[in-house]
Amino acid sequence: MKGEVNNIAVLTSGGDAPGMNAAIRAVVRKGIYHGLKVFGIERGYEGLIHGMFREASLGTVADIVHRGGTMLMTARSEEMLTPEGQKKAAEQLDIHGIDGLVVIGGDGSFRGAQTLSAQGVPVIGIPATIDNDIPGTDLTIGFDTALNTVIEAVSKIRDTATSHERTFLVEVMGRKSGSIALQAGLACGAESIIVPEIKVDLDEVSARLLRGHQRGKNHSIIIVAEGAGSAYQIGEELRRKTGFDTRVTILGHIQRGGNPTALDVVTASEMGSLAVELLRAGKSDQMTARVHQEVIGLPLEVAYGPRKPFNRALYDLASQLAI
Ligand code: F6P
Repeated sequence: MKGEVNNIAVLTSGGDAPGMNAAIRAVVRKGIYHGLKVFGIERGYEGLIHGMFREASLGTVADIVHRGGTMLMTARSEEMLTPEGQKKAAEQLDIHGIDGLVVIGGDGSFRGAQTLSAQGVPVIGIPATIDNDIPGTDLTIGFDTALNTVIEAVSKIRDTATSHERTFLVEVMGRKSGSIALQAGLACGAESIIVPEIKVDLDEVSARLLRGHQRGKNHSIIIVAEGAGSAYQIGEELRRKTGFDTRVTILGHIQRGGNPTALDVVTASEMGSLAVELLRAGKSDQMTARVHQEVIGLPLEVAYGPRKPFNRALYDLASQLAI
């Protein structure tokens, strides 16, 4: 029989994402429901390495289900990238008698989780990043909220763009991933979407802007993912090619905040609950994943497999609809 699970811990790591709190709440409450002791570890792997454990109660996670950010705080830990840091992290879990750890974060956080699992610590990962770039899961916690934040911001930008008859480039987050740009661009009816996954042809983009102008459009919105190049340079190039008055808005970290959407809270709650069930079933080195509306467990290594494919069909659709 696998070792009995009595004490579990949870941490959030990497960039925060709306819905992390709902996932923490689900881990804590599901653990307590099963009679486990649940510990929150503050400041991600930094806190783990330095022993920042605090036992959670039902009340600790009251009134957070709808809040953005993470009550446990988070960090991007350099020390966890080193073998010494990884060893210290596993030792701290041992000192505190933890027999199962839940890591809520993105792919960097999952790599840290895997090093702990390799040292014999049962670990489950919950994918949470606004980038939605983790292979294996259709959805990462925070993506839907970030998308809705972008859509709301673009609708405000559209008002001033129309009044001044301007072309706006709106830069959204995603260093390596164009997921936010793609779905927000489609949802906003943007004229063009510029992403790191697809080489941009600025002649084609400006021809599209000019076509729109000829049919009477007095403003345009272009969504640029941050990893696709400088929105300022692209804007300048488009201004030169079209002669249109262009402006750039960088949405930045506003996309990581705010109350999570219902979809993010429900997904986070299901994933937090499943993570506890997986640990109780003696599983380790797994991640929770949303696949075709269901939340399931998958091997953590899926997250390091081939990159999540870019949704080319959706990109083509957005382009066809913004003809
Ligand atoms: O991974 C999430 C993310 O928000 C990316 O979209 C963005 O490129 C990055 O984090 C920004 O990280 P930081 O807040 O550490 O500057």
